Amino acid sequence: MRILLTGAAGFIGSHLTEHLLTIGHTVIGLDNFDNQYDPGRKQINLRLFKEHTNFGFVQGDVRDQALLTDILRQYTCDTVVHLAARTGVRDSVREPALCIDVNVNGTLSLLEAMRKTNVRRLVMASSSSVYGNSSFVPFREDDEANRPLSPYAMSKRSAELLAHTYHHLHGFDVACLRFFTVYGPRQRPEMAISRFTEKMYGGQPITIYGDGSTSRNYTYIYDTVMGISQAINHLNGFDLLNIGGVASVNLRDLVSLIEQAVGKKAVIDWQPNQPGDVTLTSADLHRASNRIGYLPSIHIEEGINRFVRWYRQSVLCL
Ligand SMILES: NC(=O)c1ccc[n+]([C@@H]2O[C@H](COP(=O)([O-])OP(=O)(O)OC[C@H]3O[C@@H](n4cnc5c(N)ncnc54)[C@H](O)[C@@H]3O)[C@@H](O)[C@H]2O)c1
Repeated sequence: MRILLTGAAGFIGSHLTEHLLTIGHTVIGLDNFDNQYDPGRKQINLRLFKEHTNFGFVQGDVRDQALLTDILRQYTCDTVVHLAARTGVRDSVREPALCIDVNVNGTLSLLEAMRKTNVRRLVMASSSSVYGNSSFVPFREDDEANRPLSPYAMSKRSAELLAHTYHHLHGFDVACLRFFTVYGPRQRPEMAISRFTEKMYGGQPITIYGDGSTSRNYTYIYDTVMGISQAINHLNGFDLLNIGGVASVNLRDLVSLIEQAVGKKAVIDWQPNQPGDVTLTSADLHRASNRIGYLPSIHIEEGINRFVRWYRQSVLCL
């Protein structure tokens, strides 16, 4: 396949690009090196495959519809994977307009470019945050997900609804993948596992919001990439799919696992809950298993060990 991948220089995008190239696809990456976190990290991610003969890259913004139309035409893409976004709940509370512009208008711009160029296969990143504090646990895709708790969650749900509209009106095949906290090498630096690891190695206190009882379904990057790859292969009609990890883990247990892997005890700075944060994420994976054969395989203990090993070798150079 010839795949346009938006957000290719980011955390998930760079892992996915490596995988898609390995299994023989052509990938055209698009990224604007957004400064939500150090763009230098994204340049480093790109170096992993920049020279690959089946990889092309365009620096640009998903909101630039003319550019997207040109890329789809020029590179004769047949499939799009849309990962580019303003990420993170807390940033979206601080900057709601930017979040909604990139995540909703950016998605609309991509859908329009696809319609104009007759490219009708789309896999796009959504998020477990669309469930808010749903009382149906584990979270299932048939939940209406109409009570978002942050601009980020709202933007992701809106993008799903837009994609459904294009499925209905223009016959697009779409899979919206609801990722559950993804972690692993090259994880975004502001995310808890990265932050905690960095602070523990540096002997600095880690900040925990709430009492440590909040619980998240953590997904190791390998499983996420497999989920996206399987969704590409099974694109047919319109699907909303949870792409989660093996189990949910509470924050206290997560910290203990990182302490064991790092070999240091954490100093904890307890702070009140943050607006927009949800208390629990928990993934029902039956639909993803039935539709695309998705089954996560990396348990949190193994995933944390792999992450910390990578951090020691690649960040601390030990
Ligand atoms: N990492 C997670 O835990 C998680 C969980 C749920 C959903 N997601 C979703 O998965 C996707 C990838 O997330 P990630 O963790 O790899 O984040 P990331 O920030 O590492 O990657 C996103 C990439 O998109 C690029 N980008 C941002 N705005 C852009 C724009 N206007 N035009 C072009 N490129 C732009 C950024 O520069 C970045 O490289 C996002 O859509 C995110 O919302 C991630």
